[in-house]
Amino acid sequence: MRFAELWAELEPLGRDPGTGGYRRYSWTAADSQCRDWFTHHATRLGLAVEPDRNGNLWAWWGDARAGAVATGSHLDSVPDGGGYDGALGVASALAAVAELKDKNFNPERAAVIAVLTEEEGARFRVPCLGTRLMTGAISGEDARALTDDDGTTLAQAMAAAGADPDQLGPDDDLLGRIAMFVELHVEQGRALEPLGVPVGVGDGIWPHGRWRLDFTGRADHAGTARLEDRHDPMLPCAQTALAAREQAAAHGAVATMSKVIAEPGGTNGINSAVHAWLDARAADEETLDRTSAAVLAAAQGAAKAHGVGLTVRQESYTPLVRFDQNLRDRIVRVLSADGLSAPVLGTGAGHDAGVLAARLPTAMLFVRNPTGISHSPAEQAHLADCETGVRALAAVLADLLADGR
Ligand code: GLV
Ligand code: MN
Ligand code: MN
Repeated sequence: MRFAELWAELEPLGRDPGTGGYRRYSWTAADSQCRDWFTHHATRLGLAVEPDRNGNLWAWWGDARAGAVATGSHLDSVPDGGGYDGALGVASALAAVAELKDKNFNPERAAVIAVLTEEEGARFRVPCLGTRLMTGAISGEDARALTDDDGTTLAQAMAAAGADPDQLGPDDDLLGRIAMFVELHVEQGRALEPLGVPVGVGDGIWPHGRWRLDFTGRADHAGTARLEDRHDPMLPCAQTALAAREQAAAHGAVATMSKVIAEPGGTNGINSAVHAWLDARAADEETLDRTSAAVLAAAQGAAKAHGVGLTVRQESYTPLVRFDQNLRDRIVRVLSADGLSAPVLGTGAGHDAGVLAARLPTAMLFVRNPTGISHSPAEQAHLADCETGVRALAAVLADLLADGR
């Protein structure tokens, strides 16, 4: 099964015809189509597909009580995301296993391809939810109560999609069967293009936090309410967005306010509430903490100045991740023997390989993105580079699977 054929089938699923972006939110019809695509192709390859207790899918090549080599990524997307973020890692894993099977490669240990759920946190706002649940970083109880923008809980969304939310929780049994995880991902930046190389190897992930800010003011008439009488929650929200930019620049970090929900959101009224989300990342945790504290202090000051209430809740925090150095170096050697000189790159993007790194040796391969843009329909990867990525992943899997330990 060639990568291009797999990709051609996956490409239209969950794509918005107007924007060209993907809306593959977890536990929706688009998500279910993507899962069916995966199950169909994994089964055709002779893999045994099993859902785990947390809504992730695992396609096993061989039976493992311990020691399996895992690969894969996610199929969910951000709102109007690019086609490659996550999906490239899943399609490449299927194509790499197909390549090994075509060559009659005989693995000394089991391999497994994972489709990890709600990686983006686009629906329930906790990123890497499937692996956070698996590793116990969030409890089943807390996860079941997460709500989307319509107030649907994760428990309700899973039940509506035919999955059992009562099972959510840590999965030491499954983690005990897996020895390591290698995630291939489209590059989310533009380091490889100027170097003229198609594939890089991950070094680590910046620490990352997300906060929910609820500004509560007083609804009123946009034409008749005097400026001095207003309690307009949009004003401190706007000042917080500017503070995020200023504090990020001052600390050498990145901070973004992107998701904003205004209530009731009329064009001729003052809102009663504005809900906004801050995403902040930095090279180290101290810088991240100083940046986010400064932005949140600015938010409190602006809310007070406008007579607006503010509550802040941290929705997720992911510490600094360093991928396993032995695994990383081994992958660099394997690629070099295969004629690929792969540079080692860090990233500010979050990944399930980062969450799983708390429990397993993990590593990442990045495939060149000529635009450098991600979380947007402008995200790109050339077919030839995707095929090189498949070849690289197949070489890495062949090396890891030939070692029976
Ligand atoms: C996921 O892609 C993230 O970095 O937020
Ligand atoms: Mn991703
Ligand atoms: Mn992403």
